[in-house]
Amino acid sequence: MRANFEIMSIAEQIAELQKQVEVLKAASAEELEALRLKYMSKKGAIPQLFEQFKAVPKEEKATLGASINHLRQQAEARFNELREQLGSMANQAYADKQDLTRTPDPIELGTRHPLSLVREEIIDIFSRIGFTVADGPEVEDDKHVFSLLNFAPEHPARDMQDTFFVEKEEGVQKPSDILLRTHTSSVQTRVMTSQQPPIRVLCPGRVYRNEAISARAHCFFHQVEGLYIDKNVSFADLREALLYFAKEMFGAETKIRLRPSYFPFTEPSAEMDISCDICGGKGCAFCKGTGWVEILGCGMVDPNVLEACGIDSKVYTGYAFGMGVERIANLKYRVKDLRLFSENDVRFLRQFESC
Ligand code: PHE
Repeated sequence: MRANFEIMSIAEQIAELQKQVEVLKAASAEELEALRLKYMSKKGAIPQLFEQFKAVPKEEKATLGASINHLRQQAEARFNELREQLGSMANQAYADKQDLTRTPDPIELGTRHPLSLVREEIIDIFSRIGFTVADGPEVEDDKHVFSLLNFAPEHPARDMQDTFFVEKEEGVQKPSDILLRTHTSSVQTRVMTSQQPPIRVLCPGRVYRNEAISARAHCFFHQVEGLYIDKNVSFADLREALLYFAKEMFGAETKIRLRPSYFPFTEPSAEMDISCDICGGKGCAFCKGTGWVEILGCGMVDPNVLEACGIDSKVYTGYAFGMGVERIANLKYRVKDLRLFSENDVRFLRQFESC
């Protein structure tokens, strides 16, 4: 084609190129690029006209220059058109491939963990009688887990058998006063040492004890503990609060029984049983024929604990209680093996979908 152009005048070449540009077609991006190179690149037909234009006699420059510019504009417009056409063809091709009748991907909903469900229910019940939630660290010091709670220095709970100690420096063995909390009473000591009564808090959280893992025991589990300190708080207040809780949690028919017990941080101390809701109190394998199942420990906060935490035990009294979330979940959902709570087996977890 270039050979042809050489013997054509510039005016003829412009006319010829104009005809060609008008009917340019491209079926793909590659074809379009080939055409762009042929007509518009530096060595392409149209820029080459500008080269030849340099040799045009002065008097023809004005008209020829205008025609070349016009041709270039036409060509650019045509290329833009082709580019747009290709773009919409690609969109159409993409749309043609889509199946608009296909059902959308289902959104997989997760389920709430049974321990979360039970924890939230306990919190909900106590929040209705004025309790709020307090939080504290799982890696604690001896002071907040034991000392402030009236544990004697030789108390067995401090023993390595029960408590996981955290080495302060790698390789450096005991004595260490940093440990994994064995109960959330440590959060209660944090609250008591940082604020004055009235105090009415719930302390939910994970706790750790050095036990062999089996269907009935684990090296970690969950607790919700409660603490109420004010003027004139009595054991009767504790009993009423726990009876209210038992009825809300297990049904209006539920009875409670308080048995004397011992905790270093409460005096007097008790353990609370509820009437077995499996046999209705008649006696079954679950309650070992007694008609009662133990669900929590409780008592009046020992004055030594109040004093150690900076609360005047002559002015204030208080009660405390603590329960295992797994134990309550077992009673509610009859889960026989404790390990199921931490194995993340979806076949187990899915069963709580509707709870
Ligand atoms: N902290 C006790 C435990 O972990 C439970 C408890 C709390 C008992 C408060 C009495 C009062 O077993």
